[in-house]
Amino acid sequence: MKVTVVGAGAVGASCAEYIAIKDFASEVVLVDIKENFAEGKAMDLMQTASLNGFDTKIVGSTNDYSKTANSDVAVITSGIPRKPGMTREELIGINAGIVKMVSENLIKHSPNVILIIVSNPMDTMTYLTHKVTGLPKHRIIGMGGALDSARFKYRLSEALECPASDIDGMVIGGHSDKGMLPLTRLATRNSVRVSEFLSDERLSKVMEDTKVGGATLTAMLGTSAWYAPGAAVSSLVQAIACDQHKMFPCSALLEGEYGMNDLCIGVPVILGKNGIEKIVEIDLSDEEKEKLAESAQGVKATNSLLSEVNA
Ligand code: LAC
Repeated sequence: MKVTVVGAGAVGASCAEYIAIKDFASEVVLVDIKENFAEGKAMDLMQTASLNGFDTKIVGSTNDYSKTANSDVAVITSGIPRKPGMTREELIGINAGIVKMVSENLIKHSPNVILIIVSNPMDTMTYLTHKVTGLPKHRIIGMGGALDSARFKYRLSEALECPASDIDGMVIGGHSDKGMLPLTRLATRNSVRVSEFLSDERLSKVMEDTKVGGATLTAMLGTSAWYAPGAAVSSLVQAIACDQHKMFPCSALLEGEYGMNDLCIGVPVILGKNGIEKIVEIDLSDEEKEKLAESAQGVKATNSLLSEVNA
C-alpha cells in the first residue's frame, strides 16, 4: 500500500506520522511546494522509525508528482489553514485552485488512486474534486465527520467523566461550525443512551462545543488543529488499506441518498479497499432531517461560490 500525502504542514505531517506509527503502509510520500520542506519532514519522521518501531518508508518530494506514481490512496491537505476568527468557507478562493491542480497532478501519476480531501471548505473541495476529476464517486472521500465525531466523543466523555473509548457517537452534515449535526439522540455510553446520564441542557452544550471544535482550537493555537485531523485521516486510510469495512461519517457525493443530489456532505459510509463501499442511510428524526437539510443548503451556498473563483 502506497499512500501520498500532499501538504507537509501540520495536518499532513501528523497524518504521515500516524500512518507510519500504525505500520500498515509500505510507503508514504509527502509532497509540498516549499523547497526541501517535505524532504525534511520525511527525514525527521524516518529518524523515529527505530524508536517507534515501524517499517513504513517515508519519502519527501518538492512538488515532484512522479514520486507519487501508483499511489493507492492520496490525501490532499494542501492550501491555507484558518486563522483565528476565520470560517472554513473564507478559504475557498485560494484553496479551490490548489485542490484542482493537486488532484489533476495526482491522477496523472496514479490513475487508480482513491482521494481523501481534507482542505477546507472541505465539503466544497470534495465536490470540486468530483467536478474536475470525474472519478467514480466511491473514489473521492471528504474527511470531516470522522474528526467531528472524535471531538463529539471527547466532549461527551468530558461531560460523563469517562474515557472516550466508552462512547459511541457520530456527527453528520457539513464540516462547518453551523452545519455540523452531532447525533446526540443516538450517542451511547456502552449501549446506554447518553440522554440517560445527561440533561438536555448539558447535551446542548456538548453539541455546541462540538460544532465549534475546530474554531475553539484555532483561537487557542493561532492556526487550525492537526493532531485529531491527522489521526482521523490515518483511520480512514487504514480502513481502506486493510479493507476493514468500518463505518465513518465522511463527505460523499449524494445521488438521491437522504433525498439529496449534487452535493458532497457528511453521511455514514462504509470504507474498504474500493474507498466508499456503501453509503448508509439511517433513520433520522424529523428534527434531524430538517437540520441536515439546512446544513445542505449551507454547503450548496458555498459550492455556488466556486464559479466566482473560476474553479
Ligand atoms: C478542523 C479542520 C481540519 O476542523 O477543518 O480542525
